[in-house]
Amino acid sequence: MLAVISGATKGIGRAVSIAFAEMGFDLALGARNQEQLEEFKLYLENTFPKIKILSRATDFSIKDEVSEFTKAIKKKFGSVDVIINNVGIYATGTISNEEEGLFEKQMQTNLYSAYYLTRPFLEEMKQKKKGHIFNICSIVSKNVRKDAASYSISKYAMLGFSKVLAEEMREYQIKVTAIIPGAVNTSSWDGIDLPKEEFIQPKDIVDVIINAYQMSKSTLVEEIIIRPFNTNY
Ligand SMILES: NC(=O)c1ccc[n+]([C@@H]2O[C@H](COP(=O)([O-])OP(=O)(O)OC[C@H]3O[C@@H](n4cnc5c(N)ncnc54)[C@H](OP(=O)(O)O)[C@@H]3O)[C@@H](O)[C@H]2O)c1
Repeated sequence: MLAVISGATKGIGRAVSIAFAEMGFDLALGARNQEQLEEFKLYLENTFPKIKILSRATDFSIKDEVSEFTKAIKKKFGSVDVIINNVGIYATGTISNEEEGLFEKQMQTNLYSAYYLTRPFLEEMKQKKKGHIFNICSIVSKNVRKDAASYSISKYAMLGFSKVLAEEMREYQIKVTAIIPGAVNTSSWDGIDLPKEEFIQPKDIVDVIINAYQMSKSTLVEEIIIRPFNTNY
């Protein structure tokens, strides 16, 4: 069994990678920083010696790089069981004042990345009639923030991607689940002075993903909204 995880070295991606390794999955992991990827791979190999791991420095906002990653996965493993479309970067700004190019960067990183990573595996998943794709959206996929304009647009679209894919895959028994979190205590918030103990913890996101993954074959968790009690976050 193989899980493919984008943005795997930190935060939610890292926690989810460890959880799937604990379940005995082989892993295909991508992030941009080669050194951090190598370190994480080494940690996983030492902790879970039985699993196979492919790690490759990949910028998921760049189609050709994702294509090289997916080709390497097919060569090493053949087929994929779980895809976690996790890559995403947060940015503030309004439509009228955000810096030029931010919109494109946000769409490429937060939305196109998932399209690029998922498509190459769909035909084979359809033939096997098996697989589970998780798309990490955001609470702004439901309630947009005007001060995080491009981020909100990209995450709204990511939920759209997830819903369309879920409908397309339904007849093939491939599950597609949108995870819709409020603030999660990850490195995204480094340097920002907020009470992170009041945020959702990465383990909570892991728990909902694993729970959705382990549901009966007949059950599809379409989306999960998870928020801190303190809804300011
Ligand atoms: N944290 C929150 O409060 C929160 C709330 C709602 C939704 N989310 C969503 O959850 C997802 C994960 O967030 P997180 O907070 O766990 O992030 P994080 O701690 O900042 O980690 C991001 C991961 O993605 C990688 N990454 C970033 N840009 C990349 C790119 N262009 N190509 C490849 N890898 C890239 C980073 O490694 P490199 O820098 O080495 O590439 C890192 O491994 C995102 O989609 C985010 O929007 C987060």
